[in-house]
Amino acid sequence: MGFEEYDAWSSADYPPMSHPSADVAVNAAVARAAGLDAPQPAGSRILEIGCGEGHHLLSLANRWTGACCVGLDLSAKAIHRARSRAMRAGLGNARFCEARLSEFESDAPYDFIIAHGFFSWVADEVKVGLMDFIGKNLTLNGTAVLSFNVAAGWKERMAVVEKARAIMAAGEVDAMEALAILRTVAGTDRELYLIDDMLAKGAAVLAHDDFAPMMDAWSLGAVVKLAEAHGLRWIGDSVSGARGDDRSDNAAGTTFRSELICRADAVFGEALEDDRRRPKAAVRVPNFPKLDAWRMLCAREALPLPDADMKSCVFTFPQLKVLIAMDGSRSVYELSRHAKEVAPDLDFVPWLRHVAERGLLG
Ligand SMILES: C[S@@+](CC[C@H](N)C(=O)[O-])C[C@H]1O[C@@H](n2cnc3c(N)ncnc32)[C@H](O)[C@@H]1O
Repeated sequence: MGFEEYDAWSSADYPPMSHPSADVAVNAAVARAAGLDAPQPAGSRILEIGCGEGHHLLSLANRWTGACCVGLDLSAKAIHRARSRAMRAGLGNARFCEARLSEFESDAPYDFIIAHGFFSWVADEVKVGLMDFIGKNLTLNGTAVLSFNVAAGWKERMAVVEKARAIMAAGEVDAMEALAILRTVAGTDRELYLIDDMLAKGAAVLAHDDFAPMMDAWSLGAVVKLAEAHGLRWIGDSVSGARGDDRSDNAAGTTFRSELICRADAVFGEALEDDRRRPKAAVRVPNFPKLDAWRMLCAREALPLPDADMKSCVFTFPQLKVLIAMDGSRSVYELSRHAKEVAPDLDFVPWLRHVAERGLLG
């Protein structure tokens, strides 16, 4: 049975997350620093392949309401949730399509294509289809971000997973229980470290990561070679622009990479200004703090709130109650009184300043 037929993603929900490494503003800045005149995200066309519930894409659509954002995923349940959230947050610039990549027909090329958490989790023919799609559907100066697990660091992790799987099969226990058992007989400190690292990820992430039905770690060199075979050019790491190599990955035991690629015929010139180096204005706490509609929806549904850098902020339930009260109708003083009732342990003023500094308030 091919992985496309095996709808593993419907059986366990993938935790909704936003990804700083696939923040198209950062990706564009990296491309510009490398000399490619990449489009600005506002007003651009953005596609996310394997978008899940659309948490990342909706966060982009919320930041650039003039951008046309399209999400693609084969999971009916994930697309249903994504569409419902887009509608309730009033994000009419986000559109979601329930389809396999192989069936998806694009109406126009994209300035940004995101494939985060996709490459290592699909069969080889889908990986090839992904590169083929990117090669044919990027605008001339567009960029694509591709994350994947790196074989160098996964060898030792997979050895632990194999042992845990043997315990699961013998004892009819789940992955978390098997790891807890394995922990009691760990042979080395390194094995203990890996087990604790897996346990810390929790069951939901493990089901789609270390214990995923398909987890195919590749080397950077092999990914770049596949990209080049499809008319693409590798730029570098999607956040730093650094160009690593397999030797350093082997030495460092690298487990994950997120890389930026573009069309091979894209024209590179002198390095352009990196917008990220511009000084940022100091953040003031507004007199009447207000979450925008998307972040309010995230708070109401206890989803992580994306910050200004696309990092996921997770709050406790009492903190969420305070956030939900931030609809712009209450002053800082009224909110501090409310916080005393619903979140008595919260040090409200520094916490509110922190929330503002993370760019969560409109
Ligand atoms: C590991 S999840 C990643 C979700 C999200 N991009 C993230 O990184 O948080 C992989 C997603 O790819 C989707 N997927 C897998 N194969 C696909 C295919 N051939 N076409 C479209 N979506 C696919 C799955 O349904 C799942 O939602």
